[in-house]
Amino acid sequence: MEGMANMTNSDTTAAPAIAGAAGDGTGARRRRIAAFGLLLLLALSTGLTARAQDQNDEDENNKAALLKHGEEVFDHICHTCHHRRKDMNWTGPSLYGVVGRKAGTEPGYEYSSAMKNFGKVWTVEELNHYLYDPQAYIPGVKMHFIGLKRKWNRHAVIAYLATLHD
Ligand code: HEC
Repeated sequence: MEGMANMTNSDTTAAPAIAGAAGDGTGARRRRIAAFGLLLLLALSTGLTARAQDQNDEDENNKAALLKHGEEVFDHICHTCHHRRKDMNWTGPSLYGVVGRKAGTEPGYEYSSAMKNFGKVWTVEELNHYLYDPQAYIPGVKMHFIGLKRKWNRHAVIAYLATLHD
């Protein structure tokens, strides 16, 4: 009987020890998995950034292709309403020299008050916002165009617009 009691005792004391060991084991494993996951994430994100950078470099090096695409976007879309030639206003104002020009200031063109009040200079960044969704960026403008949703198209047409100057 005494032996049995001892056995039971040692069983019960051994159990928490094992449970504790098992607990530590899982904890350490969890930490290892977390560390591994973090490394994997880091590796993935640096890989992605590197790939995005490569893509950018490729685009930069491919300036001619960029400008050609920009001209196509202009011809197919913007040209419906805008001239590229100086002092030629149409449905929209001439886009000659638009990069660096203050919004709503092309002489001889009747702008909406929304565009006149916008008050900013057309930088590459401003054009990028505007061309994505003209009506959302400057509510009330009379440019009835849904916007260029693809970054590549905006990037290209803005690069092309920047070539239209004296
Ligand atoms: C459906 C006709 C239409 C199309 C298509 C169109 N625009 Fe316009 N755009 C206008 C009108 C009209 C205005 C004048 C807006 C106002 O006064 O509210 C304007 C204004 C602008 C302005 C402001 C110019 C300034 O002098 O402040 C820019 C920049 C511009 N458009 C760029 C573009 C580009 C780039 C495209 C092609 C991707 C394009 N637009 C397509 C009609 C159009």
